[in-house]
Amino acid sequence: MPIDTRAIARILHLMLNQPTCYLAPNAAARLKSHREYGVYAIAPIVRDELIAMFGGEVVTQETFETLNERLRRLSLQIQENLFLVALNEGPADYVNHSCEPNSGLLGQIELVALRDISVGEEITFDYAMSDGSDYDEFECECGAPNCRKRVTGRDWRIPELWKKYAGHFSPYLERRIEKLKREQAS
Ligand SMILES: C[S@@+](CC[C@H](N)C(=O)[O-])C[C@H]1O[C@@H](n2cnc3c(N)ncnc32)[C@H](O)[C@@H]1O
Ligand SMILES: [Zn+2]
Repeated sequence: MPIDTRAIARILHLMLNQPTCYLAPNAAARLKSHREYGVYAIAPIVRDELIAMFGGEVVTQETFETLNERLRRLSLQIQENLFLVALNEGPADYVNHSCEPNSGLLGQIELVALRDISVGEEITFDYAMSDGSDYDEFECECGAPNCRKRVTGRDWRIPELWKKYAGHFSPYLERRIEKLKREQAS
């Protein structure tokens, strides 16, 4: 069989250049401070609309802990022992946290609008929806009146968030929350 060099070149080009994530055309990343990026609505977004799809290499916690800080802060925990690492980072990887977010997870990797979002608004989600360990903890600067001040890998345990984000926690955290509820009830 002849070697299809054009197909191989196309695959290599995608592997090297294509971001591992997807960002909808009505959102874009831009600098929000001298070194921090954020993602903003550049056209109206309606409630439940898909905003982003996170992607990357799936690695175990053991491998994850060997990675540099930059890669780890752009990663997403998707299971008890698994992380999605953006080797080819792209605009969707720059969605920041807010304690009063306008978007939320659907499953492990989809980000959907929790309400209608106007042009110019920053797209944010609450990292409590995805993070179940301490790989990305920081002092929060979201500025919301209900800001928790510090974002930690234990925030998924806050009961008020269970109701607020029902259906928008990563599935592995949904399972943890159900277990915690059963333990608290018995
Ligand atoms: C997935 S990155 C988000 C994109 C990041 N702003 C950038 O330019 O690379 C996650 C990191 O962004 C920063 N970050 C996200 N939300 C934040 C917030 N509400 N307050 C302060 N820092 C935040 C933290 O340093 C966190 O580790
Ligand atoms: Zn906050």
